[in-house]
Parts: sequence; structure tokens; C-alpha cells
Amino acid sequence: MNPTDPSEVSPREADLLNRARRYSFRARMDKGEFVGPVFERGLGSEVQDVNGKTFLDFNSGQMCAAIGHNHPTVVAAIKRACDTLIHAHSSYFNDQEILFAERLAGVMPPGLEKSLFLQSGADANEAAVLIARKYTGGLDVASPHISFHGLSDTARSLTFSGWHADHGPPVAGSHAMLAPYCYRCPLRQTFPDCGFACLDASFELLDAQATGPMAAVITEPLFSAGGVVEPPPGWLAKLRDMAHARGMLLILDEEQTGLGKLGTMFACQAEGVVPDIITVAKHLGGGISISAVTTTAAIEATVFDRGFIATHSHSNDPLICAAGIASLDVIEGEDMPAMARLIGSRWRGHLEALAQRFEMIGDIRGRGLLQGIELVEDRMSRKPAMEAGRKIGRYCLERGLIFSLRRGGSVLRFVPPATTTPAQIDRAAAILGDALAHVSPDGRTLA
Ligand SMILES: Cc1ncc(COP(=O)(O)O)c(C=O)c1O
Repeated sequence: MNPTDPSEVSPREADLLNRARRYSFRARMDKGEFVGPVFERGLGSEVQDVNGKTFLDFNSGQMCAAIGHNHPTVVAAIKRACDTLIHAHSSYFNDQEILFAERLAGVMPPGLEKSLFLQSGADANEAAVLIARKYTGGLDVASPHISFHGLSDTARSLTFSGWHADHGPPVAGSHAMLAPYCYRCPLRQTFPDCGFACLDASFELLDAQATGPMAAVITEPLFSAGGVVEPPPGWLAKLRDMAHARGMLLILDEEQTGLGKLGTMFACQAEGVVPDIITVAKHLGGGISISAVTTTAAIEATVFDRGFIATHSHSNDPLICAAGIASLDVIEGEDMPAMARLIGSRWRGHLEALAQRFEMIGDIRGRGLLQGIELVEDRMSRKPAMEAGRKIGRYCLERGLIFSLRRGGSVLRFVPPATTTPAQIDRAAAILGDALAHVSPDGRTLA
């Protein structure tokens, strides 16, 4: 059965899609049609649709199942919480939230020890920005132009990789700066000769636009939604120094990159940079919705004294915090950074081998469990091959491999869970290779 062909849907799937057509509000990022697959189960690195078809999930759900779908440690913790306390008063402490905050401090870079729990990645970033504003007394916040920080108001205003149009005016004080997208440098420079001209130009503009003291820079240490773009070495340290020189805080959105996914516990550790605030979400709850903002004791004390408040009815619920503790048990106990390095290097080997065969692969980026390839019409012009990417995505989905497309389809982003076996990696690579062969016009392969 072809899950993307509406003429081939089973009666059960057709019935569900009909109900979706009638009752489901379409507000998804990448897709507005009522087509399958419709998923109903998952375990480890595989998910199954309602027809019983199995898919290799190289998107880790929505990147939140990076420790594997339905990990037994998380499932057991959720079941225990169901027998004790699911929800609690948010003005009082409960045991699970205290223990979770302590565990999170244990994995964070030194000095970052005070955690506030929220529900989504967007609310964590929203809170981080508000903390920086309260702490510095400034309004202006900057983020690189291919960033993604979520779709609530403040987070969306600082998300420059898309999803702005016709969603109302941005929150005041939101500024874009140039991202270090070296494959397509906006200043037509080359690293390292550029000397980080993108940072100098960006801060010159920010200084000119500032309405007073500036509050923060918020950035991902590797831009995921913007196209799996890795800043060159030294960029993050220089960004921190330039921000601190102006009294701005550095907020690192490690929601995609943190907690072991890139082969270190946090991506910033590979650069030797400790930010003022880190936000984590995605696989923090092992598949359950919880996020955190973690900062220093000094910042927490100052903003507390100034009356900072940010919470939601479910933010510190024992059930979600128990899932978070279980997720950290897996991340630490199974050494997720090491697993990410191992899986990442096998997958990278496949991507490099494919790049030897297919001219269309212009660039390979990322590390560990977050890697991507940028497709181009040819390597000289570097013209983005968006339609080819979309065809490859459909071809792979039909053959049981899920991943996501970014930059209009020209970037294929792969986020396999840490449970992915060597055989599953090899199977995914074979499907991808067939797809590239399928879309590459004659004479355009390098083989
Ligand atoms: C880096 C980053 N920050 C923030 C978010 C937003 O998280 P959420 O969708 O949980 O609000 C995402 C989601 O993909 C993300 O990738």
C-alpha cells in the first residue's frame, strides 16, 4: 500500500481521514492535506500506521522521541505517577518537580542550576526572553535570520526561518541578525578569512537600532529548522563575547541540540561556551510535553526579587516531571552522547558515500543524531533543488522512511532516535540511495 496515494487507503484509514476532514483544524507546519499515513503505534525507532505498515522514524516523531518511542523506563515512570499523583497545585512544591530540577542541574553546564518547568519549547524560550528583559532592564532581543524558537508570540517574533507572514505584528524589540550560514554566506565571504564578518555587521546594526540597553541574544547552537546549519568553530564564543560586552545575556535554545543528541550533553560544550540561560524541550520528557528554562542562581534571585512570574496550570505536574526524570535516567544511564556519536558516524559514512555518487548532494551538515544534506541542481551554481527534495521525501515515505524537509524541500533533515540499530541505519541509507537515483536526471550522478 502506498500511504501517500489517496486511491490506496484502507477503509479504516479512509474513515479516519474523513473524520479529520470534518473535525481537525489544519495548522500544521509542513502539510495541509488530509492524507496518510495515520499513525497508531511506535516502539524504539519504528512507528506503525493504522494499516500495520512499519516506518523507520528518522524524525523521532516531532524530534521528541530521540530516546526512542515508548521507552520502557518512561512508560514505567508514567504508570507509577498514575498510581500516586498525576497533577498538583502549582503554588506548592511536589516531590517529582524538586527531584527533576536537581537532576537537570546535574547535567547542565557548570553554574546553570535553577530550573523552571513549562510545557513547550516555545514557552521556555518566551520565558527565557522575559527573564533576560527583567534581569537587564532592556527590551531588544536578537536572533539569527535562520532561527526557529517556536510559534507563540514572542518566540515567533524571534523565529526568522519562516512562519511570520500574516500572523500579526511582531513583538516590539525583536531583531534579526545574520546567521553563520557558510554554505550560502549572506556576505559572500569564506570562513575563516571572513573573521566572523556576519557578527560584526549584525552588532553594528543592532547597536544602531537599540532602544536602550539590549536584553539578549537567543540562538540555537546548530540551526535545525533553518536547514541543519552548523556555525563554524569560534562563532558561538565570539557571539557570547559581543553580547556580554553590551550587557546582553546569551540564551541558548538547546531544545533540538541538547541532552546528548549531538554527541555531547549540550552542543555548547563542544565550543566551550556556557550561556546565561539554556532552554530544553523536545525529548526532555521522553515523549511527554515538558520544557525547562535553566539559569544561574544569581539571575534567578534577581528576577524573583523583581517579581518575575511564568507558569501554567500543568507546568510542574508530577506526571510530566516523573517522565522527565525517567528520560534523564535513559540519557545518562545509556550514555546518549556516546550512542549519538556512534549512530551519527555510521549515518555520516552513508551520506558521504552517497555524495560520492550524486552530484545533487551539495553539502552534508550536522552531527550525531541531527544531520542533513542540502540538495542543489549542480555543485557550481548551488541552486537549491527544492522539487527534487520533495520528490525524494515522498519516495522515501512510500518505502517506509520518514524524515523532514526544510528550506522549501532542498534540505533533508534526519533525526534518528538513539535506539536505531546499525541494520536500521543501513536500511534507511539504501532507501535514500534509491530515492536519489530515482530523481537524479541521467548523466548527473557522479558514479
Ligand atoms: C530549536 C527549537 N526551539 C523551539 C522549538 C519550539 O518547540 P515547541 O514546538 O515545543 O514549542 C522548536 C521546535 O521544533 C525548535 O526546534
